[in-house]
Amino acid sequence: MSNIRFAFVGLGGIFAGSHAPAVKHMPELEVVGLCDIDEGKFQRATSLFPNARTYTDYLEMFKTEKPDAVALCLPNYLHSIVAVAALEMGIHVLCEKPDAVNVEEALKMKAASEKSGKLLMVMRNNRFLESSQLLKKYVEEGQMGDIYAGRCGWIRRRGIPGRGGWFTTKAQSGGGPLIDLGVHMIDLTIWLMGNPRPVAVSGAAFNKFANNEVDTDPSVAMFGNTVKGGTFDVEDLVMGFIRFDNGAVLQIEFSWASNIAAEKNFVELRGDKAGFTWENGNINLYSQMGSTLTDVAPHCRNAIPGHQGYYRNFVNVLLGREEPNFVPQQGVDMIRILCAIYRSAETGREVLLEEQA
Ligand SMILES: NC(=O)c1ccc[n+]([C@@H]2O[C@H](COP(=O)([O-])OP(=O)(O)OC[C@H]3O[C@@H](n4cnc5c(N)ncnc54)[C@H](O)[C@@H]3O)[C@@H](O)[C@H]2O)c1
Repeated sequence: MSNIRFAFVGLGGIFAGSHAPAVKHMPELEVVGLCDIDEGKFQRATSLFPNARTYTDYLEMFKTEKPDAVALCLPNYLHSIVAVAALEMGIHVLCEKPDAVNVEEALKMKAASEKSGKLLMVMRNNRFLESSQLLKKYVEEGQMGDIYAGRCGWIRRRGIPGRGGWFTTKAQSGGGPLIDLGVHMIDLTIWLMGNPRPVAVSGAAFNKFANNEVDTDPSVAMFGNTVKGGTFDVEDLVMGFIRFDNGAVLQIEFSWASNIAAEKNFVELRGDKAGFTWENGNINLYSQMGSTLTDVAPHCRNAIPGHQGYYRNFVNVLLGREEPNFVPQQGVDMIRILCAIYRSAETGREVLLEEQA
């Protein structure tokens, strides 16, 4: 396969902001189909990919265009449904995060990929930033020693996406900032830790800003559509704690709205030889040379967007040039963690994670 027939389902914010620019850097992808139920999205999409045909029904697009691979940029509750349909029709899938809205749906996606033998990769763009790759190497070289503790989060002061629409409707999103932002930073942290197995979680969730419309961070406005008077039954802040089988622990916090200084996303890991912080993509290393405490700020431009890096891996896997950076079991594990944190928030107790399937 040298020319890959490619299609998109969902032509909203993340399609325009990240997928379309990334695909422009993939000469192997020939975009043949563009699908959205909202025809108002077609004009922007066809101006980007003028040779593609537009559809309002993804099954019709799959049957007519017979794409080799498809990107799903859909509301969360549709990820599993459309991914399974595509995989069963023999189409490789690159799906946006979060993998699914519950563990059963994530398992269905994994099973469909295994049964069809087609590739399923779910977006983990932050793994592909230069800063993240540099830290991965630093950890794999053993420079951190034993990593035993960490913190991660993505906290916004005011930045609720698509208020009243699918983002703030639990049945369609699976939850608020924990599933929306937590999937990014918890994944990045566990991946940098070397994928230890989570064994127990606890969490607390709050909903304090459903009726406070002093929004919004303009960078969030491109995601989802606001629906006046719509549903808001998800949390706006989660704090929690994860324990791993190797004894390591991780503190987490995720907010869409919270009375804090400003938005930031961060990972901080502590090993017995060194530690690091990753904050909004900037990194610092903290270690010791002899008896001297040493701080290092590696030069890192993050010149290539994470989505572009992820697409490069996806395309290279399809062409047999690389191994996938992501495997579906990691998605099942991630959704299992997130759902267990929600369960802990409801019950007020720590939740033990069952044996990983
Ligand atoms: N990786 C990241 O950094 C990142 C950032 C933002 C959003 N996302 C994820 O991307 C996904 C989409 O988010 P968004 O902000 O683009 O949302 P959005 O609401 O802006 O776009 C979703 C699009 O899907 C379309 N759609 C809905 N149902 C459809 C159907 N049945 N068939 C075809 N099209 C349909 C909608 O009309 C809309 O245009 C979400 O899962 C979100 O979590 C990822």
